[in-house]
Amino acid sequence: MALIAILPGDGIGPEVTAEAVRVLDALSLDLTFEEALVGGAAYHATGHPLPAETLDLAKRADAILFGAVGDPSCDALERSLRPEQAILGLRKELALFANLRPAKLFPGLEDASALKPEVAAAIDMVIVRELNGDVYFGEKGFRTNAAGNREGYDVMSYDEAEVLRIAHVGFRTAQKRGGKLCSVDKANVLETSQLWRDVVIEVSALYPDVALTHMYVDNAAMQLVRNPGQFDVIVTGNLFGDILSDQASMCAGSIGMLPSASLDANGKGLYEPIHGSAPDIAGQGKANPCATILSAAMLLRHSLGLDAAADRIEAAVGKALTDGARTADLGGSLSTRAMGDAVLAALEGL
Ligand code: NAI
Ligand code: MG
Repeated sequence: MALIAILPGDGIGPEVTAEAVRVLDALSLDLTFEEALVGGAAYHATGHPLPAETLDLAKRADAILFGAVGDPSCDALERSLRPEQAILGLRKELALFANLRPAKLFPGLEDASALKPEVAAAIDMVIVRELNGDVYFGEKGFRTNAAGNREGYDVMSYDEAEVLRIAHVGFRTAQKRGGKLCSVDKANVLETSQLWRDVVIEVSALYPDVALTHMYVDNAAMQLVRNPGQFDVIVTGNLFGDILSDQASMCAGSIGMLPSASLDANGKGLYEPIHGSAPDIAGQGKANPCATILSAAMLLRHSLGLDAAADRIEAAVGKALTDGARTADLGGSLSTRAMGDAVLAALEGL
């Protein structure tokens, strides 16, 4: 019996999470669900965006399904109490260092992509982004420099152990897919990137079945738009991965379609749609639940080893879309619940 923590959060988070739980329920797996408050919802109820009970549940659970956090009514709060601190706190407390973001264009969604349909149709990749290091976590501050000017600084650094563990995730992900790994860095100008590249090359000796290439990040940004079909798995650092994964998501159509996993070293993970709480459409039953449903599939695959069940969910989403089910972001008019119904109906028909 696996325990799944359900953290719906704010805005459309509860709406989309409910549909993902319905889909998980329909598979009749040996799962129990326990729900807790997170983000603005938790702040309003308890005074903190990541209450101790929620963190405790996240630690006890075998995996976490997360909606989204972000609440405009909390905008004036000091930074440590803002809803977004909850997701940063969970990543840090649970040592979730590997962020997997698949970007794939589902059949029929070519028109939703920012790219030409024939270019977009070839997108099927996973970006593996390091999540616990890099410039976001280095020494940072403000000072007045020798010229008397105000200066902001953020130190970029990676330790070889940090690169090693994310490199292994990259190679293993490539082994399970098309066997191609592209490591993205800026080794022509950054020492951090030179170390990154050296370590990735060392690790590659253990994966002779994976074809490793290297690409500078500026070229990678260009290639993602020019010819995204060339990529199978990309492994990269926190900053480059943040930017490239958002870029890749828009190439693959709606933000409402894309799931993600954030994993620790032991297979435990937090699974969430890549989108936020979408306050502009919250409470209207308009949100596309597919990103969260596909996140639930990733949960079954990566944390519970239930690959067949994950395959079924992914196939059901594909079938619902092929049959014409569309929420507003995809140019249709189905409600969040009706889209969930369409996926459930497709699941039964498989
Ligand atoms: P957002 O992703 O919430 O929304 C961007 C746009 O996409 C909006 O127009 C929204 O309506 C639309 N959209 C998003 N998800 C959708 C879905 N499932 N179906 C249909 N349309 C969808 O990003 P935004 O507006 O920048 O941020 C809103 C709040 O969410 C902020 O407080 C932000 O900090 C937070 N956020 C939280 C994240 C998380 O919980 N991991 C990630 C990103 C943002
Ligand atoms: Mg981002």
